[in-house]
Amino acid sequence: MDWGMSNRLSRIIKTDGRTVMLAVDHGYFLGPTTKLENPHKTIEPLLPFADSIMLTRGVLRSSVHPETSTPIVLRVSGGTSVIGESLANEGITTPIIEALRLNATAVALSIFVGTPHEKQTLLNLSSLVSEGESVGMPVLAVTAVGKELEKRDARYLALSCRIASELGARLVKTYYCEGFYKVVEGCPVPLVIAGGPRLETEMDAFKMTHDALAAGAVGVDMGRNIWQNEHPVPMIRAVNAIVHEKASPKEALEIYKNLKSKRK
Ligand code: 5RP
Repeated sequence: MDWGMSNRLSRIIKTDGRTVMLAVDHGYFLGPTTKLENPHKTIEPLLPFADSIMLTRGVLRSSVHPETSTPIVLRVSGGTSVIGESLANEGITTPIIEALRLNATAVALSIFVGTPHEKQTLLNLSSLVSEGESVGMPVLAVTAVGKELEKRDARYLALSCRIASELGARLVKTYYCEGFYKVVEGCPVPLVIAGGPRLETEMDAFKMTHDALAAGAVGVDMGRNIWQNEHPVPMIRAVNAIVHEKASPKEALEIYKNLKSKRK
């Protein structure tokens, strides 16, 4: 692997082989998502505890200080909205030259396997990888399911993740599911999990994080379960402890509760 590519990947996946990515790209199809209405306000306190941040160029320029040392994972696919005909009908919204100009550490794009737009999104991935590889920019592929959350099973996710890796993604983001080890087994590049819609309890998010890592994920690229929580900083710090300090879900809950009580 060339130096630039290795360097960028090492800024995302830390020396312990793990990563806490903070996803705040939701507005690109959801608009002003609850608790992300003012991106700067949401992002700022969480940045010190994130190994990287995933967002669009618009939110990066408007809401993040350019002095930040947190690596940027730039969302470069989109062109759809939650009220439009199909979330799967994505194109590439941001060229690689813009990612370089913004000093991005990686670029992220969604694929929609099994939809009428499967081919288009897979070819989007292929051309992004070709351009990315030529300048040392890793591509993170997101195995998106749009509104069809029920698609999140091991068979479907294993298929999507494997295809993403075959087309050259350096990192794949998917969902946690029952039998997640099968998804990991079939994917020869590092996997991170999304949090998905807000879970009922903090413990559910901690268990999911812990179990995904135990099955072989290298970390999380989590959004709503962090910043839609009433206490987002304690939440990200507890998730960080599971990822980087091998905290158990129970220990993470203790960390969360302690930090939460100190902030009152
Ligand atoms: C949408 C995305 C989001 O970044 C992703 O879903 C992660 O956020 P959350 O943890 O809220 O699910 O890639 O396609």
